[in-house]
Amino acid sequence: MSAVVRIAPSLLSVDFARLTDQLAMIEAGGADWLHVDVMDGCFVPNLTYGAKVIETCARVSKLPLDVHLMVVEPEKYFDSFASAGASILTIHAEAAPHLQRQLVRIRELGCKAGVALNPSTSLEMVREVAADLDLLLVMTVNPGFGGQSFIHASLDKIRRARALLNAAGSRALLEVDGGIARGTIADCWRAGADTFVAGNAVFGASDPAAEVRALRALCAETA
Ligand code: DX5
Ligand code: ZN
Repeated sequence: MSAVVRIAPSLLSVDFARLTDQLAMIEAGGADWLHVDVMDGCFVPNLTYGAKVIETCARVSKLPLDVHLMVVEPEKYFDSFASAGASILTIHAEAAPHLQRQLVRIRELGCKAGVALNPSTSLEMVREVAADLDLLLVMTVNPGFGGQSFIHASLDKIRRARALLNAAGSRALLEVDGGIARGTIADCWRAGADTFVAGNAVFGASDPAAEVRALRALCAETA
């Protein structure tokens, strides 16, 4: 198990009227990354933002931008998102039949390459590309919206994902996304996740900085 915990608050739950303040709060709390959910209304039934907002976040915050593409044909956006300041580009296996090619392309652009799997998608989808992965994202809700309940069956999948990465000799990070909060984060950490997206838990809290610290501490307690 990796010894490093990464906390990645999700922009989806930010109050955009207070963007600068809220990003400053999570930085003060020691957040590692800012998670940016890009949705196209096609792969998922919701719409969010694109390169312009990524560029704004890169200007307003020093945090690496962890961009989660919930879109069909994700390769259309690689160049513009990389230029806008993305550090990590994560694409869904369900939306990328030529996964290996897309991962290589993301790395050519100087970004870390990630693959996300929906709750119903088998880990077998990434076995053959484990060596090309910088990050594996196990979705712990069905993607599209913040504030959903954690799917408990995900814990066993996280364990199996960790075993798959270890068996392949991969040093990829294992990220979880959806319903991560005080009541679920430690179980995910014990199951082998090391990178935690949290939207509602952080930005719905009265003190987002304290919440980032609290989430990290819950992993430390069970290290
Ligand atoms: C859901 C997104 C998540 C979302 C998580 O489709 O991928 O990143 O922001 O939100 P919470 O933490 O509120 O479940
Ligand atoms: Zn996400």
